[in-house]
Amino acid sequence: MSDNFTKAISVRYDELSGQECCLSCGGAINFAEIKPGFHCADLGSGKGFDVLKMVTLAGQEGFAWGVDVSESMMETARENARKLNLSNTSFIKSELENIDLPDDSLDLVLSNCTINHSLNQGKVWKEIFRILKPGGTFVVSDIYALEEVPDHYRNDPEAVAECWAGAETKEKYFRNLKYAGFKSIDILEESVPYEKGKIKVSSFTIKGQKAL
Ligand SMILES: C[S@@+](CC[C@H](N)C(=O)[O-])C[C@H]1O[C@@H](n2cnc3c(N)ncnc32)[C@H](O)[C@@H]1O
Repeated sequence: MSDNFTKAISVRYDELSGQECCLSCGGAINFAEIKPGFHCADLGSGKGFDVLKMVTLAGQEGFAWGVDVSESMMETARENARKLNLSNTSFIKSELENIDLPDDSLDLVLSNCTINHSLNQGKVWKEIFRILKPGGTFVVSDIYALEEVPDHYRNDPEAVAECWAGAETKEKYFRNLKYAGFKSIDILEESVPYEKGKIKVSSFTIKGQKAL
């Protein structure tokens, strides 16, 4: 992503890292079916709550990475892990378009309300496909736009950081998944359309698997 967009995202989420507010847009973690020994990552891990849930379920043999661009969010997440004495986690600073994790390494990729911030969501989905093991699963909650977002909003870093101007249409969202290599995708929950920023969006939670 360009520096202006990454900076706007970091500024917004550095500020929000110290506040009590809900930043998710669905129940991805509730559909994740995490098993002992799982190696997992949460993309856009924020304060780390889903990472902590993942690693609690994955147990001593498991591991969970949080991936984020906001230093303050990651510091809050590390502090939350320390308080719970959870050592098999790591929070890494990495953009979703270029994730600093090896190929074919994860049983589960989770993400909640983050992929919409990317202006290159096709690349993010290719990265998700790359880091999943064959047979690995993704569960993602996100938003999509009811109509194509006009360029003057899409080119505004603050509007993108506010979780709406980067949203893709549902058709484009599924095209990105298909081009990345995911063949069948289930929609697990989907909201009615609602206003966000200057556009209409819906939230959904989707699940899919990298073929064996
Ligand atoms: C709306 S918050 C969601 C946080 C968390 N998933 C939750 O449900 O509470 C989005 C998070 O994604 C991070 N983020 C946004 N765009 C990103 C990108 N391109 N690469 C990595 N992290 C990103 C932000 O810093 C922020 O912590």
